[in-house]
Amino acid sequence: MAPVAVFQAAFLLAWLPLSTYQSQAVLSEPLSLSVHVNLTEQSLKIEWSVHNLTHPELQMAFQIEISRINKSNVIWVENYTTTAQQNQTLRRMWKSELPLECATHFVRIRGKDEDPRMLQRRVWSSWSSWVKAEAQSLLGPEPLLVFPKEKQVEEGSDVTLCYVSRHPQSHVVCKLNGILVPGEQLDPHVSVVTLRSISFVSKTGSNFFCEEDRNHTQPGLAIFVTKVLEEPKGFSCETRDLKTLNCTWDPGSNIDSWKFPCQRYTLFESFSGGKKSCKDKHWCSWQVDSQETYNFTLQAENCFRKRNVTLLFQLAHRGEARAAAAMGVSVWHRAGW
Ligand SMILES: *[C@@H]1O[C@H](CO)[C@@H](O)[C@H](O)[C@H]1NC(C)=O
Ligand SMILES: *[C@@H]1O[C@H](CO)[C@@H](O)[C@H](O)[C@H]1NC(C)=O
Ligand SMILES: *[C@@H]1O[C@H](CO)[C@@H](O)[C@H](O)[C@H]1NC(C)=O
Ligand SMILES: *[C@@H]1O[C@H](CO)[C@@H](O)[C@H](O)[C@H]1NC(C)=O
Ligand SMILES: *[C@@H]1O[C@H](CO)[C@@H](O)[C@H](O)[C@H]1NC(C)=O
Ligand SMILES: *[C@@H]1O[C@H](CO)[C@@H](O)[C@H](O)[C@H]1NC(C)=O
Ligand SMILES: *[C@@H]1O[C@H](CO)[C@@H](O)[C@H](O)[C@H]1NC(C)=O
Ligand SMILES: *[C@@H]1O[C@H](CO)[C@@H](O)[C@H](O)[C@H]1NC(C)=O
Ligand SMILES: *[C@@H]1O[C@H](CO)[C@@H](O)[C@H](O)[C@H]1NC(C)=O
Repeated sequence: MAPVAVFQAAFLLAWLPLSTYQSQAVLSEPLSLSVHVNLTEQSLKIEWSVHNLTHPELQMAFQIEISRINKSNVIWVENYTTTAQQNQTLRRMWKSELPLECATHFVRIRGKDEDPRMLQRRVWSSWSSWVKAEAQSLLGPEPLLVFPKEKQVEEGSDVTLCYVSRHPQSHVVCKLNGILVPGEQLDPHVSVVTLRSISFVSKTGSNFFCEEDRNHTQPGLAIFVTKVLEEPKGFSCETRDLKTLNCTWDPGSNIDSWKFPCQRYTLFESFSGGKKSCKDKHWCSWQVDSQETYNFTLQAENCFRKRNVTLLFQLAHRGEARAAAAMGVSVWHRAGW
């Protein structure tokens, strides 16, 4: 019975340290936190690590708070559970609706162990210090600034912009395609403008600008509005020579962004696992081999969405008619996200 005894000893050794942890205070000064601003993504990259883990690896819960303008104005709380290792860098990304240039943000974090192996009462650590995330060169020499610098959105979404005025007393008006839109004051220098359910006006974008009565500068930006991606219609494939399939569809009124083109069509075939990027937005050719049954998925995508349509068919037998058209056996649609 010697092997069993050895096994039991190892088992005891593995569990002993855990039981001794139960009397310890959790996570006294646990977390080193850093925050990086990414203006391209309008996001905060939040990184931290835990130094004083009571075990090489523990399941932990973290709570992250983000404040705007001042520390007491908490605008976001996130609970995040993960397995943490000693000194491992953990990351979260937070995207801001309000351009990060418009306001200072502050981030802090706390943690507690959530490990099912630990039996002690779980208490939150103390909060880390607030870390400031500043993206503004707010009060530069310009009398008036507008953020963000550029924007691409999908039709129907809301857009948040702000203007920063050097002279708090000055009168500022903002217009979208020539129509006055009101701002809401965030602090003495910064006002927020929210454009609700923006519509597509032109391929070249919508013009947003602000004007200050004193200096008559007109900072602004073009907002590129993309139409909501439509599902391709009338997807079908045919062949004249039984060598090449020509799969065609009607892309609908999909208009690619003029400034940030990202519309693509890709053909997938599930039995062969094949894939082809389509060069045209109306058709795509596909080499026929010995395969007789085809299950195509045509994926349309733009910067915001993907949409799939599927087509299952059997090619007419090789020996048969010359101008065999592919016979659509069934067609079904799946909306994308
Ligand atoms: C880890 O915990 C011990 C005991 O609670 C403490 O003395 C030490 O300063 C802590 N170290 C760090 C890096 O937090
Ligand atoms: C910001 O994000 C973009 C897109 O993910 C990335 O390419 C770029 O390197 C990031 N910039 C910084 C400064 O991290
Ligand atoms: C913090 O900012 C919020 C929002 O602007 C404001 O309502 C609040 O009074 C400010 N608190 C302090 C202590 O400045
Ligand atoms: C996050 O955790 C806190 C504390 O446990 C809890 O009060 C809060 O409801 C949680 N929030 C969410 C969004 O789960
Ligand atoms: C973790 O980081 C702390 C503080 O930087 C350091 O004192 C400690 O030796 C590190 N521990 C491990 C296991 O790397
Ligand atoms: C803008 O107008 C104000 C008031 O008329 C003036 O003091 C200031 O010098 C002008 N120029 C700039 C760049 O702010
Ligand atoms: C496929 O069909 C489209 C539309 O009829 C046509 O414009 C295109 O030239 C065809 N492609 C090939 C390779 O035959
Ligand atoms: C065809 O492909 C789609 C998407 O990959 C899949 O969901 C479906 O089950 C396939 N149908 C058949 C009959 O293999
Ligand atoms: C569309 O089809 C492709 C290929 O089968 C697949 O990788 C992708 O996840 C599908 N997308 C959606 C939104 O169903």
